[in-house]
Amino acid sequence: MVAIQFLLLATFWSICGGAKILAVMPIPSFSHQVVFMPLWEKLLARGHELTLLTTEPMTGTNLSNLRQIDWSFAKYLFHVKHNYSNIIKKFRENKLECFNQYANMMQDIVVQELEHVEVQRLIGNESEHFDLAIIEYLHPTMLAFSERFNCPYIGVSSMDIMSVAHDMVGNPTNPAIYTDFLAPYESSMSFYERILNTVSYIGTSVYFNLYVFPKEDVTVSKYFGKDLPKLKDIQKKVSMVFLNTHPVLHNVRPLVPNVLQIGGAIHIHKLNALPKELETFLDRAHNGAIYFSLGSNVQLSDLAEETLNMLLEVFKSLPYAVVWKSDIRRLGESTKNINNIYVSNWLPQQEVLAHRHVKLFITQGGQQSLEEAIYYGVPLIGMPFYVDQFANIRRLTKRGACKTLDPQNLKKADLQNAITEVLTNKTYSNSIKELSALLKERAISNVDEAVWWAEYVIRHKGAKILKSEAPQFATLPIPTFGRHRATYSRRGVVFNNAVHADEVFNQIYSV
Ligand SMILES: *[C@@H]1O[C@H](CO)[C@@H](O)[C@H](O)[C@H]1NC(C)=O
Ligand SMILES: *[C@@H]1O[C@H](CO)[C@@H](O)[C@H](O)[C@H]1NC(C)=O
Ligand SMILES: *[C@@H]1O[C@H](CO)[C@@H](O)[C@H](O)[C@H]1NC(C)=O
Ligand SMILES: *[C@@H]1O[C@H](CO)[C@@H](O)[C@H](O)[C@H]1NC(C)=O
Repeated sequence: MVAIQFLLLATFWSICGGAKILAVMPIPSFSHQVVFMPLWEKLLARGHELTLLTTEPMTGTNLSNLRQIDWSFAKYLFHVKHNYSNIIKKFRENKLECFNQYANMMQDIVVQELEHVEVQRLIGNESEHFDLAIIEYLHPTMLAFSERFNCPYIGVSSMDIMSVAHDMVGNPTNPAIYTDFLAPYESSMSFYERILNTVSYIGTSVYFNLYVFPKEDVTVSKYFGKDLPKLKDIQKKVSMVFLNTHPVLHNVRPLVPNVLQIGGAIHIHKLNALPKELETFLDRAHNGAIYFSLGSNVQLSDLAEETLNMLLEVFKSLPYAVVWKSDIRRLGESTKNINNIYVSNWLPQQEVLAHRHVKLFITQGGQQSLEEAIYYGVPLIGMPFYVDQFANIRRLTKRGACKTLDPQNLKKADLQNAITEVLTNKTYSNSIKELSALLKERAISNVDEAVWWAEYVIRHKGAKILKSEAPQFATLPIPTFGRHRATYSRRGVVFNNAVHADEVFNQIYSV
């Protein structure tokens, strides 16, 4: 381990200062942005010039060499115009509707971001040049920047990506074996779950290929010119993909060599002091404290009035202190005179979780929250609301560090029992401490590793040698008939993969 670290570091410090890097991060959700800030900081510290298009402009650090285009107006589109919390609420009842509204919202957002006058100036400026683009990989439109500047690009995601996107880079995606990250299944799926996973895989493939990509192609040709390749082909040209995934948090799946897992608390920062009042509150909580937060996208209005009152009653009756991140206005005066409850709209979550008296985190199960809980060894009660939260919570429950409750159907007794159990049964805190040790175990820090590979891509003008040539669906048995087969032979390059696909097919169906 030490030898590898030394080797990596030895090459690491011997290189390419002063490259020009373009980073494009269009999704206006804090959790999508915060993950990559340490990467931007490190790239700047390494002497690169960074042009960052972001909805969360950086402040405070040494920002010479940084040019930012501020897309923070997009947060308004996200939260107010399109009411994101309303969209994701539909995830439970009607996934297609939820996807559809999400795709339409993102389309509106990227169009308005591209309309930004500074972005127009950047795209139109013939003397602009970049050695590397780093672009959020979850929504395809912005990938066109790599074509505009004719430079290699790295796709990044603050979470896992859908199987459809894994497929694009050549990762095996057989849905009978590998779960889509939005599907709340374990690696060992039951037969029924495999069927559902397969149906959802095919559904999302069709949806992306027939609906999302063609629609976004229209946007691309409007803003970047008509002679660009189709987005689907641009997405496949990616040099590397950096995923904020980690075996402690996600199901293990095979990845081709140009896909790097940089997950595992990359966004953990050096702890700041707690606000004085909160520090005193927590210091006094010798019995232990509970931290309750449903993250930044679940609104209190997502909880029924009775649920809210019930939460208040339960927290009030506990012999523990409760720190509640919540909309104070909605709670009104009801928490004013309760000694063991501290309510605030905004709380420094990492600092709260790091406090020695905090023994339980009640969470909606967003990835960054879970990473922080694991990092600081705080066991969990998970109340998943939408999208990846169900899967995240289910995995941590299986790993023994979490107890699951259904927020839509929350009973007083269940909540009380869950709190008592997680606080008194050592299994939960022991499990999370084991996970914490595993999460922190790395040969090289994830930021250093990401920067090393980014510079590798700059030095070699891409990462061709690491790329799989598997055409889309090659690793899948089902669609290797017909059109896709024909496409391989017509291109005449990747015949081996077609053979490989047949082998896989034969193995699975014993033909
Ligand atoms: C800020 O960063 C630049 C480039 O990395 C460096 O030249 C400069 O000395 C730094 N300034 C400070 C105050 O650290
Ligand atoms: C979003 O919709 C919900 C439910 O329809 C509503 O209560 C909430 O106020 C809306 N949020 C915004 C920002 O409009
Ligand atoms: C075009 O880009 C060059 C190189 O970055 C820059 O010096 C110049 O000011 C830009 N022109 C405009 C009009 O923004
Ligand atoms: C503690 O929790 C674990 C996991 O849920 C369970 O197997 C065990 O029986 C519990 N122990 C006690 C004493 O309740």
